Amino acid sequence: MSFIEWLEKYNTGIPDIDKDHQGLFALINDLHDKVELGSAEASIKVTIEALADYVDYHFEREEALMKACDYADIENHKAGHRKLQSQVESFQDSYERDPVAFNMTDFMAFLTFWIESHILQSDMAYVPDVSRHVERWIGR
Ligand SMILES: [Fe+2]
Repeated sequence: MSFIEWLEKYNTGIPDIDKDHQGLFALINDLHDKVELGSAEASIKVTIEALADYVDYHFEREEALMKACDYADIENHKAGHRKLQSQVESFQDSYERDPVAFNMTDFMAFLTFWIESHILQSDMAYVPDVSRHVERWIGR
């Protein structure tokens, strides 16, 4: 069983966004598995890097989508992204500085809490506006 399971409630119905979110789940699960298996620090470092990069990639795509749809609350949403990016970056820095002292339990708890609130609160708030526009683009 995965550390964090994808559930129906996480579906926004916007295919690109759901695909990105599933990618984030997969990376968090990879990281958890590596830690559980006692993988080498170098390998854990690569997964943390991949996760941080994927977060940047996803936020960039999400922001472009919100902009294209003239989403009214875009600035707040972007501010939330910046805050999260700096939190992930600081976890990443501390792992790179001292992997032995790094509190992986805190990092996993942070990621679990974040992914859930990011999807269920922040993202679900833009879904009605964005899906209306997406439907218009693809002519549904
Ligand atoms: Fe998102």
